[in-house]
Amino acid sequence: MSEKDTGTGFLGWIDARFPLTKMYEEHLSKYYAPKNFNFWYFFGSLALFVLILQIVTGIFLTMHYKPDGDMAFSSVEYIMRDVDWGWLIRYLHSTGSSAFFIVVYLHMFRALIYGSYQKPRELIWIFGMFIFVALMAEAFMGYLLPWGQMSYWGAQVIISLFGAIPVVGDDLTLWIRGDFVVSDATLNRFFALHVVAVPLVLLMLVVMHILALHEVGSNNPDGVEIKKNKDENGIPLDGIPFHPYYTVKDILGLVVFLILFSVVVFFMPEMGGYFLEHANFVPADQFKTPEHIAPVWYFTPYYAILRAIPDKLLGVIAMFAAIIVLFLLPWIDRGKVKSVRYRSTTFKWLLVVLVISFLGLGYLGALPATETRTIFARLFSIGYFGFFLGLWWISKNENTRPVPARVQ
Ligand code: HEM
Repeated sequence: MSEKDTGTGFLGWIDARFPLTKMYEEHLSKYYAPKNFNFWYFFGSLALFVLILQIVTGIFLTMHYKPDGDMAFSSVEYIMRDVDWGWLIRYLHSTGSSAFFIVVYLHMFRALIYGSYQKPRELIWIFGMFIFVALMAEAFMGYLLPWGQMSYWGAQVIISLFGAIPVVGDDLTLWIRGDFVVSDATLNRFFALHVVAVPLVLLMLVVMHILALHEVGSNNPDGVEIKKNKDENGIPLDGIPFHPYYTVKDILGLVVFLILFSVVVFFMPEMGGYFLEHANFVPADQFKTPEHIAPVWYFTPYYAILRAIPDKLLGVIAMFAAIIVLFLLPWIDRGKVKSVRYRSTTFKWLLVVLVISFLGLGYLGALPATETRTIFARLFSIGYFGFFLGLWWISKNENTRPVPARVQ
């Protein structure tokens, strides 16, 4: 008999039949996290919060939304004007999608600066990358649903990219759309995937992401493995129980996040056309192409890479390569030192190049292309890929500083 079977009362009854206390201890009260978590460690729990927010608000939107080419646009207007609190639910969901990407990009950047993708955390990173891809698919399909001009033409442009693939391209685009143009059939399947299939995949991936994290333990801003220094009871000397210490700290992060989030939801839900694009307040018209088609801001860095290359197929390859290269990061970085605190100056410069290139691409991808902008988009694309090439190059024999034995 395990010690849990000896518990009394209702909890004892449950524990004898389901590992409730065991799971609570393993993942919260006896999960020892490094004591030196900083600002950058807020974003995992915030991503979890936004995921739940999107699911809950999405359920309520689905109660009033009509996935039908003739009714979709007006059903969204109906939600905004007539459904009790409908405007709030919709703005929470639309702002939530942008917030999700802000939080996830910062969360990924944290992994980059502290080497959290390095051995033994490669799988946490890989699951994270699958989450990122699923999140992009989720956002892309969700954006079609309001059936505005930008929903329609954005989907048309992105789906037609698959047409650049040799041999199967045309059949593939037809298969994705279910029609010769984006139509009611496309709207229906995107709705099914957006509300059921992809959220399920996302939830599953997040569970695997956190299980993998709890198997190896969290990294930290010093990149020191806390499991290497344990006391006589096997508890890491530099670790503190996740609950109550980090649950309380994460609540602080959540409160700050909610203040900023509320400012956007209540005072600037369109965010100057970045969170909700102006053209999307006009119903989809398959005979009228908008003057300027641009994806929502979180896709613009990749869109800029696509447009920077004159050949359509090569552009599509480069765009996908920009994501694939991230999957390979744990093997591109051959360094032994994890945290930027102890890495070389060259590494820091490479990071600067990456950040400037990524932000530059994001800015350019939202604007119509001109000759000068295309030149800059090419330079930034070189900067983006240059980071990975440079990292691979320098990390083998990097001039690092000594890493302390314990966290600082
Ligand atoms: C729905 C999206 C996501 C959720 C809910 C999520 C959740 C979490 C949570 C709760 C943690 C532990 C707390 C923390 O370290 O901040 C974590 C850690 C981590 N996540 Fe995510 N994550 C998501 C997406 C991603 C993505 C897209 C990546 C990268 C491609 C990623 C990479 C990592 C890594 C490497 C760690 C370990 C960090 C460390 O120990 O230093 N995550 N994630």
